[in-house]
Amino acid sequence: MFSKEVNHLITWDNWSDEDIIKIIDLAVYVKENRAFFSGHMRGRSMAMLFQKTSTRTRVSFEAGMTEMGGHAIYMDWMTSNFQLSDIDLEAKYLSRNVSIIMARLKKHEDLLTLKSGCSVPLINGCCNLFHPCQALADMLTIKLHAGKLKGMRLCYIGVHNNVVNSLIAVTAACGVHLTLVTPLLSNPNIKIQSIIDKAMEKKTLTWENDLHKAIKDADYIYTDTWVDMEFFNDPASQKMKEERIKTMIPYQINSEVLKHTRAFVMHDMPIHSGYEITRDVVLSDRSIVFPQAENRLDAQKAIILTLLNIT
Ligand code: CP
Repeated sequence: MFSKEVNHLITWDNWSDEDIIKIIDLAVYVKENRAFFSGHMRGRSMAMLFQKTSTRTRVSFEAGMTEMGGHAIYMDWMTSNFQLSDIDLEAKYLSRNVSIIMARLKKHEDLLTLKSGCSVPLINGCCNLFHPCQALADMLTIKLHAGKLKGMRLCYIGVHNNVVNSLIAVTAACGVHLTLVTPLLSNPNIKIQSIIDKAMEKKTLTWENDLHKAIKDADYIYTDTWVDMEFFNDPASQKMKEERIKTMIPYQINSEVLKHTRAFVMHDMPIHSGYEITRDVVLSDRSIVFPQAENRLDAQKAIILTLLNIT
């Protein structure tokens, strides 16, 4: 089905545009035909390894496996032996007992070490550099909401983070124009030049400093936390958090901002109300935040089915 063998989903930048478009189309089909896929994972298990907290990623993968007749095993980094052993050796064992692995690790390098021990597909459930599963659900959301992707205009307003890297890759593949209003980087090494170059070549990516100019013609505006979630309540990170809030507060998505655009509002959740977005906007009729979060389920199923080549 795919133009090259795809065994893992670590980042979208080594997937062809055709493969990315196919997996979005599959997610649409899965959503519209949930009952048809109810037995596709029968007899199969997924290991879900978390070094960081999660609501949506855990629930959507676990519910996704259950709905397709399979089973998902939740593994907390701190209560598993991943914290004690060589990561690749633990992965080598895990591959003998499950059909597929999803991991949310803090460091991309650790994810690559995990991958080196995997003989079954590995899915990146969000690392410091990428959040490919989220970006897929985001494209699925726009496709379902607008009826198309090509030519749509998405404006991301916030800190350049792992979600942004994955959005740059998928929007370039789908012909969605992405405008970034990103006064800050989540960390100094977050910008991945190869992904940016590909999007620049396709003319799907621009930066804009002026918020009102950026949102004027946008179909969708998107924001995310200003502080990576593992640092949000960390006492040692409070100074950094305060500085970020000071820089970013003029970029908050609130009811005043909505007066200057007809765009619908996206956020990958969890929400930090009163920081990157206000609660009234999240709950307003301009918000598609909850369908966006719901679509994680169908996107995860499409990823699992594709990596296991069961479609
Ligand atoms: N958007 C997202 O990945 O949500 P969780 O961190 O709750 O999994």
